[in-house]
Amino acid sequence: MAEVEVARRRTSQPFGINLAIGHRPLDPFLEVAMRMKPRAISLTGGNPAPYLPRIKEAGILAMVLVAGVRQAQKAEQLGADSVIAVGYEGGGHLGRDDIGSLVLTRKVAQSVSVPVVASGGFGDGHGLVAALALGAEGMEMGTRFLATEECPIHPQYKKALLDFQETDTTIIGRPMGVPGRVLATGFSSVILDREQQGDTAERLLPLLAGTRNRLGALDGKLDEGYVWSGQGVGLISDIPPVRELVVRMMDEAKASYEALGALFSPR
Ligand SMILES: Cc1cc2nc3c(=O)[nH]c(=O)nc-3n(C[C@H](O)[C@H](O)[C@H](O)COP(=O)(O)O)c2cc1C
Repeated sequence: MAEVEVARRRTSQPFGINLAIGHRPLDPFLEVAMRMKPRAISLTGGNPAPYLPRIKEAGILAMVLVAGVRQAQKAEQLGADSVIAVGYEGGGHLGRDDIGSLVLTRKVAQSVSVPVVASGGFGDGHGLVAALALGAEGMEMGTRFLATEECPIHPQYKKALLDFQETDTTIIGRPMGVPGRVLATGFSSVILDREQQGDTAERLLPLLAGTRNRLGALDGKLDEGYVWSGQGVGLISDIPPVRELVVRMMDEAKASYEALGALFSPR
């Protein structure tokens, strides 16, 4: 609730609240979120069916994160007002089909009639133009926004985002059915080794727990906790304020669009 108040103070523009299904009972969070009357609520990580009608009845736009065409169509049938298609390049929790954003965005845009937001690997204005060209109405960024002045993660994590390249991420959690892309660190290697050895869920789960993520992301202990990142980490070379990043991206998008326009205009 405090975060929503901050958002309201800082902007008169619409904003949304994101809720993850599956970690804990969602109802109390959904009730609070709906009372705050955001323009949109996005749902991730599970079956949105029980929640979508309530969100829509409250006059709030319902967005659903999906990682495949069938999921997107299901979300549309259930009443989602838009879908966010998250491709394999993305940071954090991923789908299980490993479909890259290029194909996923296009295929989802062809397969549903609600607006599509492209997500996974988008990190600058060129990516925005690409997303729009593929039929999306916009793009979502996770990893790129981590490397901004305002993002409250540990400086060590931000430094790693500058140093690591697109080749330096890996996917943990596959054997447990919860694949997620992280920076390839000493700690992620420990997890992967244990996964390859066929460790039991009992032994793996503590390594994948949110407390381990907090150790890395907030305490900067990258050898003791994992940190989410997409392959778009390779596109990061500075830590600007969010406003500067967004203005730059819009300039990049415009330049990219104009360059493409020149390519197709008659001589
Ligand atoms: C640090 C981090 C935290 C994330 N947390 C959430 C979350 O709470 N809910 C959610 O729906 N997606 C979350 N995501 C995934 C993003 O919504 C998005 O799908 C992903 O970041 C897109 O790929 P990108 O990282 O290449 O931009 C997170 C991603 C990162 C990197």
